[in-house]
Amino acid sequence: MKMKPNFTPLLLLLLLFFLLFNTTTPSSITDFVYAGCSPLKYTPGTPYQASVNSLLTSIANSAIILPYNQFTSTGPMPSSAPSSFGVYQCRGDLSVSDCQSCIQSSLTQIGSLCPFAVGASLQLLGCFIRYDNSSFVGAQDKGLVLKRCGGSVANNGGGDYGAQREGVLTGIVSGTGTYRVAGRGGGGAVQGEAQCEGDMDAKTCGDCLGDAVGTLRSACGDAVSGEVYLVKCYARYWATGAYARSDAHDYSPSSDVASKTWAIVLGIIAGVALIIVFLSFLRQACCSHGHGKM
Ligand SMILES: *[C@@H]1O[C@H](CO)[C@@H](O)[C@H](O)[C@H]1NC(C)=O
Repeated sequence: MKMKPNFTPLLLLLLLFFLLFNTTTPSSITDFVYAGCSPLKYTPGTPYQASVNSLLTSIANSAIILPYNQFTSTGPMPSSAPSSFGVYQCRGDLSVSDCQSCIQSSLTQIGSLCPFAVGASLQLLGCFIRYDNSSFVGAQDKGLVLKRCGGSVANNGGGDYGAQREGVLTGIVSGTGTYRVAGRGGGGAVQGEAQCEGDMDAKTCGDCLGDAVGTLRSACGDAVSGEVYLVKCYARYWATGAYARSDAHDYSPSSDVASKTWAIVLGIIAGVALIIVFLSFLRQACCSHGHGKM
């Protein structure tokens, strides 16, 4: 009698494995949003480089305790290199440790994204850093950096989604503070969040977010999600549960951590199961040799 090794459970498990890792890797505060580099470069080894390096070190040290800070650097003491100016900011709902790891990730990336750039900015999903050789702190800048809309809302028959989205956008504009959320909790279909750079006063922030939301309204018509990043502020909305972007989780402050933990646990379970099936497959394959297969 011939024993054919049975591949079905192995294939099923492999499939499960891929599905798991496709669906559980997404939500990460370190997902890339945009980067911008000045066309001007500095010469390596010049005092300005020392100034920038010292600035980035200050950012790394500060992010251990604060969600936002700004710095002016003239290089390590006692030098007086050309000044560089920098800010960093974490999304308002991040824990201190998430903030720190997000900034750490930004700092390791910005040098390779913008090598020797006189000025650079990097926005990840959970945090932002920027430096330049002229000060931009406190200044308004509503220049459009990034505009992205999800697909159209399917089956928008009752117009309820549109109404809820409008409620969320209005909530963002009429909100207060540099970090604003709308539509969270309460089982609404739409959620949103917005943030101004921490150096902006209430009026400047409201003005910036007014523009960002206006662009969301006009550009993302009936889109299921949208995000608009201006230089000094951003606003985004998304459908609760229907993830238009991999990261658009239903917010709870620790969901990034929770979903990662899940991914790891499920990954380990799937891995162990895979090994067991693979071993039993090997046994089957080995022992069917004895039965005179050609
Ligand atoms: C910034 O750097 C560029 C290039 O080195 C230089 O032309 C410009 O004058 C600098 N601006 C300031 C404010 O130092």
